[in-house]
Amino acid sequence: MERTHIAELGKLVGKEVLIKGWVDVRRDQGKMVFLDMRDVSGKVQAVALPMHIEALDVAQRVRPEWVLAVRGNVNKRPEKNVKQGVENGDIELEILSIEVLNEAETPAFDISSDGREINEEVRLAKKYLDLRRPRMQRNIKERHRVIKLLRDMLDAEGFYEIETPLLTAPTPEGSRSYLVPSRVWKGTFYALPQSPQQYKQLLMSAGFEKYFQFAKCMRDEDTRGDRQPEFTQLDLEMSFVTREEVMRLNEALLIDLVKTLFPEKKIQETPFPIYTYQEVTGKYSSDKPDLRKDKNDPDLLAFLWVVDFPFFEKTGEDNIDGTGEWTFTHNPFSRPKDEHMGDLIEKKNIASILTTQYDVVLNGYEIGGGSIRNHEPLALRRVFEIMGYDSERIERNFGHMLKALGSGTPPHGGIAWGLDRLLMILFGEPNIREVIPFPKTGEGKDPMMGSPSPADPSQLMELGIQFKKVQ
Ligand code: AMO
Repeated sequence: MERTHIAELGKLVGKEVLIKGWVDVRRDQGKMVFLDMRDVSGKVQAVALPMHIEALDVAQRVRPEWVLAVRGNVNKRPEKNVKQGVENGDIELEILSIEVLNEAETPAFDISSDGREINEEVRLAKKYLDLRRPRMQRNIKERHRVIKLLRDMLDAEGFYEIETPLLTAPTPEGSRSYLVPSRVWKGTFYALPQSPQQYKQLLMSAGFEKYFQFAKCMRDEDTRGDRQPEFTQLDLEMSFVTREEVMRLNEALLIDLVKTLFPEKKIQETPFPIYTYQEVTGKYSSDKPDLRKDKNDPDLLAFLWVVDFPFFEKTGEDNIDGTGEWTFTHNPFSRPKDEHMGDLIEKKNIASILTTQYDVVLNGYEIGGGSIRNHEPLALRRVFEIMGYDSERIERNFGHMLKALGSGTPPHGGIAWGLDRLLMILFGEPNIREVIPFPKTGEGKDPMMGSPSPADPSQLMELGIQFKKVQ
């Protein structure tokens, strides 16, 4: 007999079916046993009656989270037993036979609650169990729907989804890179990408014109509620576009996404208000203000754009990229505003050069950012010179970019959304760990896989790596 998903049972009253799934709840009433059965599609109440003696015997033995194949008849419940508003509340599965597919230890914690009362490290240590709770099932399935819709919308707009490498070279993106030692070339390292920034620009050089990717990005920075060492961007780049065109397309995508999948949400203002960096920091003392008029309304979405950021700022003590007096505020590959291109090329009035950067902010979180890029090699070279890189370092780190730009690269620009942050807000979750299937703890650990962990000495030997205690 073929398996039927639980969500289909409502249409099969009077039929014999085979369902496969987990025991969600078991209620033993002696003469009969009720099993609430659960699969990926839903839940149904099943009952083992005294007249099916073998089935009743097994039902008395099973425990929550056991995996069963249950054969039974789909019956309409008598009027008085109908549970209004409950999924499959009008039917019941009369169990004919039960096959135990796998037993289960008693779960380490309650998986029927929303889980907020459970210590997070405990949840993460058994994430496969934690993911069974209804809230997590909903978040992860909804995440899939968001990604699918965005993918379809971008496809319809003529974008190509193109993958870019994870083993790459370090680039300055404002954070530290994770390094991966090479075995073949001892003493050398790959870096994990902080974003696909350079590759997507190279794809513009290669003529694809519209690129996107749900890209894994890795940044070795301190973890926070809205920051993970590894996170997902919806990364995109377009050729022959203006700042306004990129902003308009992304605004339309965000609005369509909300209208299609989150119709209960209300966008406070469309078109999204646009503030300059100066206006927004002057008015709200923040470049990502929460503009919601009613902060108690969980369904209110206040988007805004912030533009006209300063390109450079003085190097702070914690700066890790710059060797000179200046560093970039957002992205070294950005183009300055047209009226500031002259100053960039002449390397003067550096503090007042504005970038074409645009950030999109939602309810007090920066959920995305991008810019139009420098597509002429000289302008990009000037950025690195202002940052104090000598020509040898520019050549070593960015020679390929300068050559690509000089090979006939069209004007281009793009953006990356912090997908996890956007989902956190849309799902009403307090942090991005609740929308990521396998997140790290606040301290950057994965207690389930036990990472990070010491490397095997033989592996280190093979890599030519030896540890020295640093005082
Ligand atoms: P940026 O560094 O601003 O831009 O990143 C884009 C968006 O990614 C999200 N984000 C994060 N989310 C979770 N954890 C993190 N550690 C984290 N860091 C960033 C934010 C942010 O707005 N290459 C450029 C994009 C471009 O110019 O096209 C870039 O990566 O929501």
